[in-house]
Amino acid sequence: MNFELKTVSLAQSSRLAVDALLVIVPDAWAGEKSADDPLSLLLRQVTEHGDLEEGTGKYLMCYRPVGFKAARLLLARAGKGSPAEVRKAVTTAMGQLRQPGLRKLGVVLCALDDVAASLFPAMAAVADASYVYTTTKPSAKAASVREVMVAVPAADAVRARFEHASAAVHGVEVAREWANRPANHATPTMLADAAKALARKAGFHCQVLGEKEVEKLGMGAFLAVAQGSAQPLKFVVLHHQGGRKADAPIVLVGKGITFDTGGISIKPAAEMDEMKFDMGGAASVLGTFAALSRLKLPLNVIGLIPACENMPDGRAVKPGDVVTSLSGQTIEVLNTDAEGRLILCDALTYAERFKPRAIIDIATLTGACVIALGAVRSGLFSSDDALAAALQEAGDAALDPCWRMPMDEEYAEGLKSNFADMGNVAGRAAGSVTAAKFLEKFTAKMTWAHLDIAGTAWRGGTNKGATGRPVPLLLQYLATQSAQGADAPARKKSPGRR
Ligand code: BES
Ligand code: MN
Ligand code: ZN
Repeated sequence: MNFELKTVSLAQSSRLAVDALLVIVPDAWAGEKSADDPLSLLLRQVTEHGDLEEGTGKYLMCYRPVGFKAARLLLARAGKGSPAEVRKAVTTAMGQLRQPGLRKLGVVLCALDDVAASLFPAMAAVADASYVYTTTKPSAKAASVREVMVAVPAADAVRARFEHASAAVHGVEVAREWANRPANHATPTMLADAAKALARKAGFHCQVLGEKEVEKLGMGAFLAVAQGSAQPLKFVVLHHQGGRKADAPIVLVGKGITFDTGGISIKPAAEMDEMKFDMGGAASVLGTFAALSRLKLPLNVIGLIPACENMPDGRAVKPGDVVTSLSGQTIEVLNTDAEGRLILCDALTYAERFKPRAIIDIATLTGACVIALGAVRSGLFSSDDALAAALQEAGDAALDPCWRMPMDEEYAEGLKSNFADMGNVAGRAAGSVTAAKFLEKFTAKMTWAHLDIAGTAWRGGTNKGATGRPVPLLLQYLATQSAQGADAPARKKSPGRR
């Protein structure tokens, strides 16, 4: 999607040469009193006659309106004009703008009080509505909208926010695309190649480790998950070097299970196809890097992607097997379907070498998180209050929200094992929390947070497909961190663990 930011007054917007013009109109707003341009006249009339009801999602479609260059004009209400209302208004409007000949769209944000805050929700909603997955379905009708002109009263005043928004939208598209690809079109090798291609194009550094190197490092937990698959594992390391050399990086770790059958603890058949999305965390790291390099954010970020399949096989890891993780801690693999934590724990330990100022893992980790929070908020787990607050705020600001879950030590009780330093599961109760407690055992030396995106990374049902979450949250967090500067005081661990 190609976005262009343009300075246009409300009165001038009728002269925009686009195929369709979408004007976002807050409730209780009827244009400037004495203005006599076509849009103001029209707004006054429709308001007078009650043809444009108040309430987000209400709209009026006009065809060949007098005085307008655009053949179609859509007036869409956006309540009080909050970011969430703007997103809903644009989403509803896009549902009405599906004409095949519609290539150029104008979105007029001039009537909104907070234009800067409206850019991302409006642009994300346009991109969302026009994304079509075609990689393995070439017959799918590609979106007709190619160019979007975003009309604001003063472009220069909101240029930075616009750049952030278009980078975020791009990152979401990259994440959706890779998460959507079926497992035979997104093997660990293909994912690693995609990372390399992206790195070359976007200009960041990418390193790919194979089985031999991973074995030499001693990532016994990661190897155990991968050993049942015919597809070789890959460990991808991305470097965005936007800060000074000595600046401590932020590390993002994305779960990259390209297909999760459950292994020997095999999953039931129903909806198992959706386990192709089990690399949604990895896809979000790729998307975030795509966005990061567009924005050239002045900070150092490392991306880590352990990628493999989880398959049942004669060589597969068995329930009861004990493996030695990179940290040296041993793990009894009680359930081979709890594989995400096994590949993540070794990636977390690997990250220690970068001495990160913060490390965040992103994973479609537990069905229990879907039960707890559904598809609205991702699960946020951290013992560090400052990092948790920063991520929660970033999520709220980016309309990509998360919710902090508890981390009391008592939740780790069930992970005890008679045969290893820990088991990899702890029963059904509080499954998303016990998974986080498992990961925490590998993060003692770092300021760490974990995002469980099992409920938010994709939609099921008739609109099945990846969402690109939590790219907006991550990019917002990184942008805030870079604005605060690398000289910001180092975070202290909170004394009391939650
Ligand atoms: N990838 C799944 C988690 C998942 C399941 C995400 C369903 C979205 C929808 C993960 O690897 C898994 O299988 N977790 C198990 C853990 C259990 C064995 C402790 C789960 O949630 O059932
Ligand atoms: Mn699993
Ligand atoms: Zn999984």
